[in-house]
Amino acid sequence: MSYSIAIDGPAGAGKSTIAKKIAKQLGFIYVDTGAMYRAMALHILKKGISPENAGNMSQACKDADISISYENGEQVVWLNGENVSGLIRAEEVGNMASVSSANQDVRTKLVSLQQKLAETADVVMDGRDIGTCVLPNADVKIYLTASTAVRARRRFDELAAKNQACSLEQIEQDIIERDERDMNREISPLKQAEDAVLLDSSDLTVDEVVEKIIFLVQR
Ligand code: DC
Repeated sequence: MSYSIAIDGPAGAGKSTIAKKIAKQLGFIYVDTGAMYRAMALHILKKGISPENAGNMSQACKDADISISYENGEQVVWLNGENVSGLIRAEEVGNMASVSSANQDVRTKLVSLQQKLAETADVVMDGRDIGTCVLPNADVKIYLTASTAVRARRRFDELAAKNQACSLEQIEQDIIERDERDMNREISPLKQAEDAVLLDSSDLTVDEVVEKIIFLVQR
């Protein structure tokens, strides 16, 4: 039986940074499910489908072959044979992912891929519905959050470090809109699983959060 740690929470709460560190410490595989939704969003954007067109999204998702592999412990995302790990990080792709991830056909396809991965290896998986839907029997479930202002600031610093021009106000606005969509969609909305441990990272360092989660795993 493989071991699984589910980390859910809103955009910018620090899920991927934390999940990567935990996976490294425990020798588990890190699965970034948001990256899969982003790859699907990129596919949809490439086809020129508008966010309002749910029918076309369902159709488009049929010919998206998404998979992940690992290079030096880093997750690489493939879309129809192309390494799209860099392309999927654009804000435009993230915003489309938040819209297209509400589509049932998109979710069915990606959830099945995620469940297969967790069957074959010990995983730290992060996303929005891991504890509630993808891995309801995960050994440890965490709901990681932080205030909107802190999350916007972190994202702003991340983009600034990459010399990408951005406005803090715009980022905060995007985060508010994305939370609104992720938490209020009909299918698998972002919410804390009943048996998940709530962690607010607003005033904690990355190492403090990692330590708390490792403690829960060891207990
Ligand atoms: O974590 P992220 O920003 O890379 O995720 C991009 C979008 O994908 C996010 O707005 C919601 C969606 N998503 C989802 O619906 N379910 C998941 N398990 C992961 C991400």
